[in-house]
Amino acid sequence: MGAVVVLVAAVLAWALPEPDGAPRGERPGLARAHGIALGTAVAVDPLGGDTAYRELVSGHYTSVTAENTMKWQYVQPERGTFDWSGPDAVVGFAEERGLSVRGHTLLWHNQLPDWLAEGSLDAGELRAVTREHVDALVGRYAGRVTSWDVVNEPFEDDSPRLRDNLWYRALGEDYVAEALWMAHEADPEAKLYVNEYGVEGGGAKADALYELAADLLDRGVPLHGIGFQGHFVHGNVPEDLAENMRRFVELGLDVEVSELDVRIPEPVEEEDLAAQAEEYRYVLESCLAVSRCVGVTVWGVTDAHSWIPEWFPGYTAALPFDGDYTPKPALAGMVEALRRDRRPRGARGRGVR
Ligand code: G3I
Repeated sequence: MGAVVVLVAAVLAWALPEPDGAPRGERPGLARAHGIALGTAVAVDPLGGDTAYRELVSGHYTSVTAENTMKWQYVQPERGTFDWSGPDAVVGFAEERGLSVRGHTLLWHNQLPDWLAEGSLDAGELRAVTREHVDALVGRYAGRVTSWDVVNEPFEDDSPRLRDNLWYRALGEDYVAEALWMAHEADPEAKLYVNEYGVEGGGAKADALYELAADLLDRGVPLHGIGFQGHFVHGNVPEDLAENMRRFVELGLDVEVSELDVRIPEPVEEEDLAAQAEEYRYVLESCLAVSRCVGVTVWGVTDAHSWIPEWFPGYTAALPFDGDYTPKPALAGMVEALRRDRRPRGARGRGVR
């Protein structure tokens, strides 16, 4: 009898509508039914102390990415001294709520500790500390973090040239392959990604990424996927997103939209939010239209947590929840895409989570 009451209560809780009209749990359920991850980037502070934030994450998403706390600056602030408090909090929360975790990120030119950023290590030392870092981080979460952004933003901001970062300077262009091998050795099961921005539509930078990916695969390097970040400006979302992702799939790769947001210039009007919903719907539909697009992750939980206002003054409202944690039309746009496309679970590639 008690079990029946619990079951009925659980079903009612699942079915109760939320402010946007979608039943509680519909989005994760729909995403799982499609075999894609619907993710969000999370920050450690609200994850620790903000119950509404935690509920919002696990009530609407199936996957999390650590927005900052797995970056080198936080994980290894001093050489040889590791701080696992943030990454453990993210992975622990995800496990408690049944969410998968994208690991972000191993080699990136930003958010490095001073001891590494100053660039005083020679090639041998840099190789050794990189291996040590990758072993420690990827190894610690082996089997618990599904995929890693092994190299983040390897190309220059506005050009198709490999970025002149500290690994490129010391090790040459093959540092990308070296890093992928290191991550593979630390967790042979993890899906390994190159993650980049400004490559979501076709163009010289996307072509250069394609050439890099093709070359790595030709040489048997363990590259499994490409993350297309997806930091879009409202009104300027590329129309060839699916087409561009598809050519990478044809190489044998999984693809994801890994850091989606759509920033709007102030002042934000109702009609902007309605048009933004169409843009979110379009991105979800693009992913669903590509056989091995394994997920879409939005870059932050609410507009109060978004990186946009700090980095792009004059722009705001980039995410599917507003600063009061209220769902915006963008959330409904994603749901609409998920409701429309009802391909069965299992229709996707090996990156399904
Ligand atoms: O850690 C300090 C903290 O000690 C201090 O009290 C606080 C005061 O503002 O700042 C904290 O640092 C901030 C850090 O995020 C952690 O919260 C920096 O100011 C802030 O600029 C930094 O921004 C992050 C940015 O990467 C750094 O480049 C954003 O939150 C994060 O969303 C963003 O994420 C990147 C992806 O990793 C890669 N793709 C692009 C994306 C957007 O830049």
